[in-house]
Amino acid sequence: MSVTHTRIIATGSYMPEKILTNDDLSKIVDTSDEWITTRTGIQERRIAAEGQATSDLASNAALRALEAAGMKADELDLIIVATVTPDMFFPSTACVVQKKIGATNAVCFDISAACSGFLYALQVARQFIGSGTRKNALVIGAEKLTSLVNWKDRNTCVLFGDGAGAAILKGVNESSTSRMLGSVMGSDGTLADLLKVPGGGSALPITQENAASRPNTIHMEGRETFKHAVTRMCQAAEQALAQSGYTANDVALVIPHQANARIITAIADRLGLPEEKMFMNVQRYGNTSAATIPVALDEAARAGRLKEGDVILLVAFGGGFTWASTVMIW
Ligand code: UT7
Repeated sequence: MSVTHTRIIATGSYMPEKILTNDDLSKIVDTSDEWITTRTGIQERRIAAEGQATSDLASNAALRALEAAGMKADELDLIIVATVTPDMFFPSTACVVQKKIGATNAVCFDISAACSGFLYALQVARQFIGSGTRKNALVIGAEKLTSLVNWKDRNTCVLFGDGAGAAILKGVNESSTSRMLGSVMGSDGTLADLLKVPGGGSALPITQENAASRPNTIHMEGRETFKHAVTRMCQAAEQALAQSGYTANDVALVIPHQANARIITAIADRLGLPEEKMFMNVQRYGNTSAATIPVALDEAARAGRLKEGDVILLVAFGGGFTWASTVMIW
């Protein structure tokens, strides 16, 4: 078969069982359910169990995707994990997942692009498949973001959660209508300081002296990040649609990064789309960075909201800054 296109053949996701509600948070920091719900739309988020690492969340999501695809792990050619909360600096979380699921024949590596990570990874996998170098790929977005949260900082600790989503990609020929179409990716490192975990790496190792100021936790200029998120996601979505020969009116469902319900509403307004075309689960999971899009994709697929032939728009924005959008025919 001559491969010219790439499509998602199956999805899977895994969310940890433990729920942390807004009311629970209001006992830890000076916040309220009313503030969090009004400003973000988030009502609760999931927290990984004691001893559960990002690779455990990722492996569970991967096994569900494999089951949905009717594939065995040793049939996988490539595993890419998008994460900013790897199990450790190295080996890559993808290699740890490989071991846990028994994907003995896959080549494995991680991608670091924060909340845009899954869409970046999707594009990288697509290049491998389109070039014929690999026949299939398992792309995972997985995060244990609560490992980077400062539970004393109300500006950030209410926003994030843990979870993982996975998609299996395969090469298809011209006869397949289901395929990935236009894709846009962008980055602006000059704005890196607006959203980052400054410490714990080679630039600012954690020492006894600096540990108390928690440099190894998430720091965000929320208001500025919000503005850039809306602008970049709208631009990327419009560009990816134009590349694909579609307009917003053709889209059956948008799967946007889930950071804040107000961002999703603003994107719907600017693209002229009704809210029912915007998939939203931020109320249940908060922001799980690279995991939000694959988790939402899996929930939408399993809820029967993705029908064969539908035009689906994925769009993300995150630290870096980074942004990306992909149009696909389901
Ligand atoms: O995933 C990557 C991309 N991330 C994003 O896109 C996130 C973008 N940013 C946001 O979603 C919003 O900016 C936030 C939800 C983070 C914050 O909402 P905001 O409407 O931009 O609020 P703000 O940061 O301007 O803060 C407004 C007020 C401040 O009080 P003062 O200075 O007006 O007295 C904050 O101290 O709200 C206060 N505040 C809180 N109050 C109660 C901030 N966090 C909280 C809190 N509970 N948790």
